[in-house]
Amino acid sequence: MLYILDTADLEAIKHCNEFYPLAGVTTNPSIIAKEKTDFWKLVKEIRSIIGEEKMLHVQTTQKKAERIVEEAKLLKEALKGDFYVKIPIGEEGLKATMELKKLGIGVTMTAIFTPAQALIAAMAGASFVAPYVNRLDNILGDGTEVVAEIVNQLELYGSDCKVLAASFKNAEQVHKCASAGCHSVTVAADILKTVISHPMTDAAVAGFDKDWMSVYGEKTILDL
Ligand code: G3P
Repeated sequence: MLYILDTADLEAIKHCNEFYPLAGVTTNPSIIAKEKTDFWKLVKEIRSIIGEEKMLHVQTTQKKAERIVEEAKLLKEALKGDFYVKIPIGEEGLKATMELKKLGIGVTMTAIFTPAQALIAAMAGASFVAPYVNRLDNILGDGTEVVAEIVNQLELYGSDCKVLAASFKNAEQVHKCASAGCHSVTVAADILKTVISHPMTDAAVAGFDKDWMSVYGEKTILDL
């Protein structure tokens, strides 16, 4: 499972990059706009925090295939390293994906809501497909079930396209995606924190501290 951070908040990226086994960062136009700052400065700063080894996914702002390809080339040139252009599913997006595949630029096909959309994106050459779990749950769909179906179909057709599940509201959705064999999830920092937290863990650690201090006081192993 690859854990990716879905934000352009530089402080959150610095923090999670230090404390979690982060595989990269995803953004979209809404996430970028939230920061209300210079686009190029922001995305280059994200790249410098995570380094070139980790994945950076940035979404195109273009609608026509030729312009999407042009923008993808510009983004790849500027952001270097392990880079993916996010393209919403649609005819122009598929055309751009097939062209970018030939150029060796990775594509994450986004705004996916059905297994059928995901499969055709994979056949066009997308490296990742990004189904929106919570947005499906919100309309009485089953986001994690859709993720499971996509995982199965990609396997059935021997595709090397990976599922990058997105749009999460809670850790249970992440867990269900993991159980379905989903390859990667992109989540906000607070969800990563929830994933690692448990009141029983806190109680266990408090018990260890209390027992240790009853014999050794404030001294740690480094002091002995
Ligand atoms: O890029 C997809 C993801 O960020 C959408 O998440 O929370 O806006 O549904 P959300």
